[in-house]
Amino acid sequence: MERFTRPGDAVLDPFTGLGTTFFAAQATGRVPWGVEANAQRHAWVTARTPFAAHLVHGDSANVRTFGFPAMDFCLTSPPYMPQHHAWNPLRNGDPAHAGYDAYLRGMQQIFRAVRAVMRPGATVVVQADNLVGEGALSTLVWDLGLALSDVMALEGEIVVTWSDDGAAEPFTQCLVFRVA
Ligand SMILES: C[S@@+](CC[C@H](N)C(=O)[O-])C[C@H]1O[C@@H](n2cnc3c(N)ncnc32)[C@H](O)[C@@H]1O
Repeated sequence: MERFTRPGDAVLDPFTGLGTTFFAAQATGRVPWGVEANAQRHAWVTARTPFAAHLVHGDSANVRTFGFPAMDFCLTSPPYMPQHHAWNPLRNGDPAHAGYDAYLRGMQQIFRAVRAVMRPGATVVVQADNLVGEGALSTLVWDLGLALSDVMALEGEIVVTWSDDGAAEPFTQCLVFRVA
């Protein structure tokens, strides 16, 4: 947050979840904005912030329609999908089990909408992990990097190592994009 923004900047998380970005923006004097598809998570965050009106319960593919101001920065962690799963986790889950390609296309659609509400030249950071498990490696970070490069310019990658030695995952990855 402090590396990419200044106090007063508008910070968007289109997958707000339990609000890590939302609360970090609030705590550092930035102005949080967000979208969350899950009603319980939306209610949990809005009950704990004076910026409740800035968090929409809905689909971030529709973010252009929510009346948000131009955003200075986006920092988000999308729902993860292993590439061998059929169930697409976007929008509370896809009952058609449309698979990994549909997930990546859905992510492109959402980030095209996000791009439209960003200030020109703004940075978008997408945090994700490559997934090891169930006898398979899912190259989620790199697949998202490639898919979202159709939408925004990929400028680089930041590896974040966790200070807690007991963490299940010793590090995570942040893809850094810039919108034109
Ligand atoms: C990995 S979690 C976000 C974690 C978040 N950083 C936190 O602090 O909890 C992804 C979130 O995206 C939400 N989500 C999935 N599809 C969505 C969509 N189309 N629009 C908005 N939120 C969505 C899920 O409900 C979930 O809460």
